[in-house]
Amino acid sequence: MAHALIFDSGVGGLSVVEEIRRRCPNLRLSYVADDAFRPYGEKAELALRARLPRLLSELTYMLDPDIVVMACNTASTTALADIRAVLSIPVIGVVPAIKPAAAHSRTKTIGVLGTPGTVKRQYVDRLIQDFASDCHVILQGSVNLVDQAEAKLSGEPVNMDVIKGEISPMFASKHGMDVDAVVLACTHFPLLRDELKACVTQSVKWIDSGAAIAKRVETLLAQVLPKGVRRLRPPREDTVFLIGPDTHAARQQAFMRFGFKTVIGLLPDSR
Ligand code: DGL
Repeated sequence: MAHALIFDSGVGGLSVVEEIRRRCPNLRLSYVADDAFRPYGEKAELALRARLPRLLSELTYMLDPDIVVMACNTASTTALADIRAVLSIPVIGVVPAIKPAAAHSRTKTIGVLGTPGTVKRQYVDRLIQDFASDCHVILQGSVNLVDQAEAKLSGEPVNMDVIKGEISPMFASKHGMDVDAVVLACTHFPLLRDELKACVTQSVKWIDSGAAIAKRVETLLAQVLPKGVRRLRPPREDTVFLIGPDTHAARQQAFMRFGFKTVIGLLPDSR
């Protein structure tokens, strides 16, 4: 059985897990949440570039996956090349779905809702240049939406006033009324899709990268795994590893709802 390591700063990667499970039901998944360093969206680019390659080398050594999915737009748009440079297995990055959003938009006006880090990365500027040069692109960064998604999956109430406050500047800005597609450029945000929809009156398509990533996982595994050879590696349960102290019961149950069997807390200095 092939084995993928799914990595995010918190529960956001579960929005990608959902799509991967749909497309690759037999893939074994290990999930790592870097709770100790969340939110990534507020961290300096250099801090992420220093932490992530080292951390991913250690994790792939520990867990021995066939591929890594960086299920975090902030990490991918900041450090994908650095991570790939130190790993010898394929690394799939999750980056904002700007291309499909631009293709979908009739008004040629799209929003990109990511973390403050992601929306200011050169990587995103390049995606806009390459795929949305004919569009007005409204960039909006939010850390509070990450916290709201974490709260929701921990069984706490979501604060709709906060959600409204975070997205209303996008629609109130010049060209905001024309926005007909919004890129959910942070993996935490599809977990708030219903709440986001409820806060917006105009007709908008909310686009994330989850399904495209799942397809990429399937294609890549077919390429890298030898055909007709059975793995003798004993199957283990799908497991979540939390770096940091955020192991309370309701949050663990959220991971269980996404098909994981075990949640293990790793102290930051024990990894
Ligand atoms: N889920 C992450 C992303 O896709 C970021 C959350 C954070 O700021 O830690 O960008």
